[in-house]
Parts: sequence; structure tokens; C-alpha cells
Amino acid sequence: MKDVKGSLAVITGGASGIGYGLASAFGKAGARPMLLDIEAKALDAAVAKLVATGIDAAGAVVDVTDRQAMRQVAGEIEAAHGPIHMLCNNAGVGTADPLQIARGDDWDWVLSVNLMGVINGLLAFLPAMTRHGEPGHIVNTASVAGLFPMRDIGIYNTSKFAVIGLTETLRDDLAGTTIGVSALCPGYVNTNINQSRRNRQAAFGASRPPQISADAMRAIDRALKTRGLAPEAVGEMVLDGMRRDLFYIVTDPTFWLPVRRRFERMAHDIAALHGGLPASE
Ligand SMILES: NC(=O)c1ccc[n+]([C@@H]2O[C@H](COP(=O)([O-])OP(=O)(O)OC[C@H]3O[C@@H](n4cnc5c(N)ncnc54)[C@H](O)[C@@H]3O)[C@@H](O)[C@H]2O)c1
Repeated sequence: MKDVKGSLAVITGGASGIGYGLASAFGKAGARPMLLDIEAKALDAAVAKLVATGIDAAGAVVDVTDRQAMRQVAGEIEAAHGPIHMLCNNAGVGTADPLQIARGDDWDWVLSVNLMGVINGLLAFLPAMTRHGEPGHIVNTASVAGLFPMRDIGIYNTSKFAVIGLTETLRDDLAGTTIGVSALCPGYVNTNINQSRRNRQAAFGASRPPQISADAMRAIDRALKTRGLAPEAVGEMVLDGMRRDLFYIVTDPTFWLPVRRRFERMAHDIAALHGGLPASE
């Protein structure tokens, strides 16, 4: 989408962090952000803050893991606000547990929100977005943790690698339609992601503190605070990337290095097994 003025942008996880940054950037550019979130109080505060700056924002409480509720809210939004142009499947949660001690309910929770939440967003909103024939764009929030592995956050890595795979195929499937697709891969962003447990639904069992060392946890906290971008800066980058129809919106270029190492390792192992690599396609 080149011009977002007047368009309707649905943003899951819009009450905090990156979702709020997207709403703010889109709103400043003239779009109408519709924030969806599981956290009612934070959602009200976020919408009020946007409206106070003159942005035409609104919100609805919904859990992205609830497919039926997502479908219902999609219908309600379309009926009340008209055609939906942008969809940011952004709601997400994190855990930090080495895989050898990860529990089943942690897997269920993180995959339900981070992966099934994105899938439920597509099931609920994509049909209406393609039906009206106007330009549109889908941004799925993955992570640089969806591009290379990171020790101790294997559940999160798994969910984000899956979002990358889904989004790459989605872009191919929607090629030639009016809907563009991008994968947002943030590096560190200064948000509330480390307090994700606040939103763990009872259905996924009692949460427990991250099972990594206090030092490792402090290092992550520090990185988020000191290296972390402001969510609004990420919102501006997404707007820029969307206007230029970029697919991978990677917020920190230094993460290209571990991505390259992953592919170099792959090339090395293929060459080792087969005595070389194919010269060209
Ligand atoms: N902060 C970072 O450094 C970073 C890096 C890479 C990727 N990300 C990704 O960015 C996205 C946004 O996270 P953030 O960092 O802004 O964290 P955040 O905790 O500040 O915001 C996440 C939002 O999602 C909402 N949410 C959680 N579970 C939900 C559910 N089941 N249904 C609806 N809403 C729900 C929360 O209430 C919150 O408003 C996530 O997908 C996260 O994995 C964050």
C-alpha cells in the first residue's frame, strides 16, 4: 500500500509495545487504527491516548486464540467501520525455558498465541480484505528469532520460524492480488514482552517464572531496555517497508550476520554431503 490515508488497519496486540507503535505510526499517516487486545484496561488507555493526539482509533477486546471470537469481531468491525485494508497479526508472548525442561502447556500457550493467533487473524479477516478489491496489506509480526535459533527460547523460536514460513507462502499465494504481505522481524524493542505472563489464559495452566538463570534473564531485560528500539520507531519502519512493498522488515541490520551464518552452515553441510553445491539454478 502506497497511501494509507483513510484506510482501516486492524492491529492485534495493539494495546502495548510494537502494536501500539504500529497504531501510532499508521494513525499519524492518516489511517484509522482498530486495536484488538486481550487486556481491556491497557486497550482502553491505548485507544484514549491515540484519540487524544487526533487519531481516529477504536478498539475491541478479543483473544487471538479464540477463532470464533476473531471471526465475530471481524464481522462487527466491517459492519461498523467499512472495508478493512490492513491487518497486523502482531499479538505475541514469550517464554524462556531450555527445551529439555519445557512443559507441554508452555508449548500450547506460546504456539496458540504466536502461531494460531496469526492463523486465526487470517481466517477471520483475509476473506473480507480480498472481497472489496481495494489495496491492502498484511503484516505478520515474527522476530529475528524466526530467522536463526537462540538458546533457551526454543518454544518462541519454533513459533516465529513457523510465522516466517507461513508468511513467505502467503506472499506467494497472494501475488497478483491487491493484498501485499510483509514479515516484521524485530530485533530488540523496548516493550512489555518480558511480562508476557500477565496475559496467560487460565486454559493454559499456571504460569511459572522463566527457567533460565537470573543472570541470563537480566541480560535479556538489559538488551530490551538499552538496545531496544522505541515501538514508534518500529511503526515508522513498517510504514516505510509497506509503502515500498518490502517483504522482510528487519528492524536491526546487525542480525543479518547470524542469519548469514545459518545459511553458510547449510551450504557447507550440503556441499560436504554431495561434494559441492549446484553452480546455478
Ligand atoms: N519486544 C521485542 O524485542 C520483540 C522482538 C521480536 C518480536 N517481538 C514480537 O512483537 C510482538 C509484540 O510484542 P511486544 O514486544 O510489543 O510485547 P508487549 O507485551 O508489549 O505487547 C504484546 C501485546 O499482545 C497482547 N496479547 C498477548 N496475548 C494476547 C492474546 N491471546 N490475544 C490478544 N492479544 C494478546 C498483549 O496484551 C499486549 O498488548 C509479539 O509478536 C512479539 O513476539 C517483540
